[in-house]
Amino acid sequence: MKHLLSIQDLTRDSATDLLDEASRFEQALAGREVRKLPTLRGRTIMTVFYENSTRTRVSFEVAGKWMSADVINVGVSASSVSKGESLRDTAMTLHRAGADALVVRHPDSGAAHLIAGWTTAADGTGPSVINAGDGTHEHPTQALLDAYTLRQRLGGLDGRRVVIVGDVLHSRVARSNALLLSMLGAEVVLVAPPTLMPVGIETWPVTVGYNLDAELPSADAVMMLRVQSERMNGGFFPSAREYSITYGLNDRRLAMLRDHAVVMHPGPMVRGMEIGYSVADSPKTTVLEQVTNGVHMRMAVLFRLLVGVEENV
Ligand code: CP
Repeated sequence: MKHLLSIQDLTRDSATDLLDEASRFEQALAGREVRKLPTLRGRTIMTVFYENSTRTRVSFEVAGKWMSADVINVGVSASSVSKGESLRDTAMTLHRAGADALVVRHPDSGAAHLIAGWTTAADGTGPSVINAGDGTHEHPTQALLDAYTLRQRLGGLDGRRVVIVGDVLHSRVARSNALLLSMLGAEVVLVAPPTLMPVGIETWPVTVGYNLDAELPSADAVMMLRVQSERMNGGFFPSAREYSITYGLNDRRLAMLRDHAVVMHPGPMVRGMEIGYSVADSPKTTVLEQVTNGVHMRMAVLFRLLVGVEENV
């Protein structure tokens, strides 16, 4: 695999292989005082984020550094993008400056695909491109770390019922998770207000519901999504208060979950909106585990793209 642009780049076997690889990295680093493996020594990873990020950018940087790669974070606001340089010219510049991997976040769906096309030569050389979130399209490494977390907490995904709740319309996390979790054998249920459910949802490998209370008692996991008001041009329906009452995960709803069920959130959370303050800190909630797992998952992705072969870490 040269690039990771979409969950559609993966098969059930290759996705499972990545999850297993992340587990090997986690075990290799467990209990170590010095978290440094020689795995990617001499490789250069560049992150270029046209949208803000805390978790994804930092975890790619940590993942690269723990594998001894040189990691360069290209600050878009301090780069020549601010002088009008195009996405293509920026990508080609980073490629020719020596990137072995480009980790890209961009507000436009398809941006990472375009970059992969521009920078990959006819003989297949050029950097590996990793989609770290493109518009409302996909966020494949988020889905992989979510699958990893679910596998750890639930023991496996086959037959598990994962309810994804919220602003599905604008969520690249929802799309990537729907594709990956269903590929790995889970039943995915999407719950959203009708105004925040995408047109064409019937083509997704999911079932759709509008009543959150009805879905909770049979869920193995509930994944809450942030309402992405930055993509809404100034407002959305229902109102924030109505949304929170109808679709927010509060203490009453948390009590409807089975003992083993978990609450997930990709972050950043908006406490008091899609998730209650105390729910966010509940022992059922995996938000911070997801962050830690994200580092191991991104180590696995970088390793497989840049080294390729299965070998001991
Ligand atoms: N989950 C996620 O993508 O978070 P960031 O926007 O902080 O990277």
